[in-house]
Amino acid sequence: MADFELLTNDMLSEQDALLVHHAREALVNAYVPYSSFRVGVSLLCGGGKILTGTNQENAAYPSGMCAERVALYSLAAQYPGETIQKMVVVAQRLGLSDLTPATSCGSCRQVMLEFEQRQSEPFEVLMLYSDGEWVKAHSARSLLPFCFNRSNL
Ligand code: THU
Repeated sequence: MADFELLTNDMLSEQDALLVHHAREALVNAYVPYSSFRVGVSLLCGGGKILTGTNQENAAYPSGMCAERVALYSLAAQYPGETIQKMVVVAQRLGLSDLTPATSCGSCRQVMLEFEQRQSEPFEVLMLYSDGEWVKAHSARSLLPFCFNRSNL
């Protein structure tokens, strides 16, 4: 199977659409006074639980945190041992109702990779790649070629 699929809205599965819905609903909890750029994430866990996260900014800019890492770290802190099946990332400019394309930053990809390697099972990552077009990565690993990981230490 290829590492990636490109999907239009009508090609999303019911499960994908539900996770997009949850990520989108979460956007209201983003704290973005500096960028006005909201990011929402939903995680589908092995047991069927769905968890969300949003970006949280700070006046000391680097102290803020991306939505992906907020979601992943809060999963690990609240439900240790829980696995991830799928992650959906959406973004929206404050004041607009449409989603805006945004694919996860390198730091978030690095953290996704560590979560994936911890659970020894790949998880899918679905992100809006361009207007009306989603990219689905079949693993976090595929999002980070030539990566650094624990085997390097
Ligand atoms: N952001 C995320 O939440 N995830 C990413 O992968 C990239 C960027 C956030 C950080 C900041 O709050 C805002 O988007 C603008 O960079």
